[in-house]
Amino acid sequence: MAEAVGEGGSVTGLDLSSDFLVRAEEIVKETGYSGRVTLKTGDVNALPFDDNTFDWAWSANLVGYHSALKPIVSVGELVRVVRPGGAVAIIFWSSQQLLSGHPMLEARLNATTPGIAPFTTGMSPDSHSLRGLGWFRALRLMDVRAFTFLGDVRAPLSDEMKDAMASLFEMRWGGAKSEVSHGVWDEYHRLCQPESGEFILNLEDYYAFFTYTMFAGVVGE
Ligand SMILES: C[S@@+](CC[C@H](N)C(=O)[O-])C[C@H]1O[C@@H](n2cnc3c(N)ncnc32)[C@H](O)[C@@H]1O
Repeated sequence: MAEAVGEGGSVTGLDLSSDFLVRAEEIVKETGYSGRVTLKTGDVNALPFDDNTFDWAWSANLVGYHSALKPIVSVGELVRVVRPGGAVAIIFWSSQQLLSGHPMLEARLNATTPGIAPFTTGMSPDSHSLRGLGWFRALRLMDVRAFTFLGDVRAPLSDEMKDAMASLFEMRWGGAKSEVSHGVWDEYHRLCQPESGEFILNLEDYYAFFTYTMFAGVVGE
């Protein structure tokens, strides 16, 4: 975004967690855009900005995704701080196929509470991220668009990528033990633990993909 706004433009990044902002600051320094980027601690449910402050608002893996937030409230906050004619976009992780060759195991792990997080059992279907078009309609955004982007990973993986993928396995399924059989849990460990002799990321032909979905619209006059 800092690149896109060009010289003279500015970007404000916001998160509730100072840990994330510390990391954001490091990334901004690495990219050389410190002069264009301001980082701020704040709550997306009550953004610390006046109405019509920005030309665009963008949220990644938070608005419409985080189960603790009411999507209409948080998307509504993005709309409030963007001037009429400006754009609001939200993007979030929407699916994955990470255990090639083991579709039944992957389906079983995905059918657990951690596997489907941040959506949880009992949440209203209207709160599911893929219902975002409805929130944008309710908030009267115009020219609403939806895109799904694909990312993929193929062997040979660097050590850094293996670490990242192992963390992803742990994040998606590491808490699923109490919801699956011993057999499923053993198989998960066999394939997804770096210390296992059958760690799936060591496969010579490992391939996986995941999707991100974005909804974007224009704020009305
Ligand atoms: C899944 S992480 C995504 C982080 C980052 N946006 C990204 O895409 O890499 C969710 C982030 O939302 C932040 N968060 C959670 N609740 C929030 C709130 N009410 N207001 C602002 N940020 C919040 C968390 O601190 C965390 O950094």
